[in-house]
Amino acid sequence: MTVDVRADLGALSLDNPIVTASGCFASGAEIDRFYDVATLGAVVVKSITLEPREGLPPPRMAETPSGMLNAIGLQNPGIDGWLAKDLPWLQGKGVPVIVSIAGTSVDEFAEVARRLRGRAGVVGVEVNLSCPNVDHRGLVFACHPEPSADVITAVTRAVDVPVFGKLTADVTDIVSVARAVIDAGATGLSLINTLLGMAIDVESRRPTLANVLGGLSGPAIRPVAVRNVFQVHQAMPDIPIIGMGGVRTVRDVVEFLLAGASAVAVGTANFADPFAAHDLLAGLRTWMADHGVAKLSELRGAVQMPDREA
Ligand SMILES: Cc1cc2nc3c(=O)[nH]c(=O)nc-3n(C[C@H](O)[C@H](O)[C@H](O)COP(=O)(O)O)c2cc1C
Repeated sequence: MTVDVRADLGALSLDNPIVTASGCFASGAEIDRFYDVATLGAVVVKSITLEPREGLPPPRMAETPSGMLNAIGLQNPGIDGWLAKDLPWLQGKGVPVIVSIAGTSVDEFAEVARRLRGRAGVVGVEVNLSCPNVDHRGLVFACHPEPSADVITAVTRAVDVPVFGKLTADVTDIVSVARAVIDAGATGLSLINTLLGMAIDVESRRPTLANVLGGLSGPAIRPVAVRNVFQVHQAMPDIPIIGMGGVRTVRDVVEFLLAGASAVAVGTANFADPFAAHDLLAGLRTWMADHGVAKLSELRGAVQMPDREA
């Protein structure tokens, strides 16, 4: 049985639904030694800021039960450095590129976005709204609907490709933030970023990360991520969602699709197994054929809800 794995994300159509999660794949060159990254639906690159950033001091990563904490601090070469070096490599590969952008003010997001306008190979922009907003006492954009919407409005004005707002689950009501981002002009949503976490070494009595707090990723967060995708999909069934959080197996991919995702990003799993995303695509095709699923779209949001007694 041949299966159709094309992923429909509104204005953006990908050959398959397996993409990389920002920050877990750099720009792809390291992983291309293992397999051809052009086989992926898209490469979502590490978040890029206006100026280069060195990131936070080590230790910046720590293992936790079923997951990982990180406080990298958006280390990146800055938009001009990235355009000079990484984009040409990705263009040479011919893989669709979704550029994750970050900033601490609306103006910074808008400027990074402007420099991406009209670049060959860039099929979308993912707006990492999980950074603290310097103009508003360091509050994280994605924790509030209005500042998130302001950033999306500025970015959608600056570029001519679909824009995805990347949200955090560290909020009381993700649907209200998601709605504000869509109303501001985003094509879709990326759900979810890491959850804020902390680990303490009990012998030294010190926090494990130099930054004290960090982002939790990996299988530990998957049920939270699936819940967020489900809630947003139920509220806005037509909006494309790139689902992520602890994807490691084909069953995890299918779980996100059933919850309502149109594509699925693989993050932390790349660190343990560089072939992770590649193998998930092959595994997904086999799973669909084995289960008589001809088209990926048959799975999207197809979770069967329990019957409720009146
Ligand atoms: C080491 C590391 C660095 C990350 N850097 C970024 C980043 O630069 N921008 C971003 O939007 N998300 C970043 N993330 C979050 C991931 O893209 C993803 O949303 C999250 O890790 C959940 O997926 P996972 O459990 O499959 O890793 C990072 C995650 C990790 C583990």
